[in-house]
Amino acid sequence: MSNQDRRTAFLHEMGLGPVWSQRAAVLQTLEHEPVLLMASAETVEISVPVAAPVPQQRAAEPTLSAWGDETPAAPATVPMTAAVSAVVKPASDVANMGWEQLKEVVSNCTECGLCKGRTQTVFGIGDQKAKWLFVGEGPGRNEDFQGEPFVGPAGKLLDNMFISMGLKRGENAYIANIVKCRPTDANKRDRPPTAEEVDACMPYLQRQIALINPTVIVALGKTAALSLLKLDPATPVSKLRGTVHRYDEIPVVVTYHPAYLLRSLKDKSKAWADLCLAMQTYTARENG
Ligand code: URA
Repeated sequence: MSNQDRRTAFLHEMGLGPVWSQRAAVLQTLEHEPVLLMASAETVEISVPVAAPVPQQRAAEPTLSAWGDETPAAPATVPMTAAVSAVVKPASDVANMGWEQLKEVVSNCTECGLCKGRTQTVFGIGDQKAKWLFVGEGPGRNEDFQGEPFVGPAGKLLDNMFISMGLKRGENAYIANIVKCRPTDANKRDRPPTAEEVDACMPYLQRQIALINPTVIVALGKTAALSLLKLDPATPVSKLRGTVHRYDEIPVVVTYHPAYLLRSLKDKSKAWADLCLAMQTYTARENG
């Protein structure tokens, strides 16, 4: 199967018909339309090429299931080395840490109550020089167990979204979460992190973002979007989609969380439109 056929197969599996793809020629000739960029304290307009996804002729039906066939790579285990310093540093210190120290401090963090229930912290994974950063909410059961973000069914969909975009886990893409420990309720079921848990963990993600300095951030779901953009907790994801926001100078595109997409198939085509916006934003920023 060629790369294009695989991509078509994945988009097909995302429930997208007709198959949508970007056309470079279309992007080049399109008018530049103003896109609203929202910073936490300011609102500016920039020019980002806006292209409607272009329907293509559907390729021959894929013979293999893109879901079933594409088992993500075996998850790496997070080394649980003995702490050099188990003392969690204040945010100002975190802001100066390199990768190794940051990983170590995160793995020993006791800044909030989530540390009591974790099997291990889930730091993040991928290319430390990635131009793409994907941010989720927090580890679930599988991630807590394996020490890697997005390794369950939602992770499989995320991997397929990557392939649709011409990306691959670990190559030019970094995956992180808002919180590094699994939040659970009284019944040991996954739950979203509280505002206090997010606040306690944010300095770590902020440092990861500063070290990576990605071209584009994709916020996966409500918790990621609202925490990164510091917005009112009542803001629905649907209000944030279709607009390029900013975290510092970095464009942020908001889309649905893969776990939500697994439950709400009808929104997969919207998620693909979001990824198209992210790709256009990436191209515009890379080309200066
Ligand atoms: N959901 C998330 O938001 N992050 C993960 O790592 C796994 C599931």
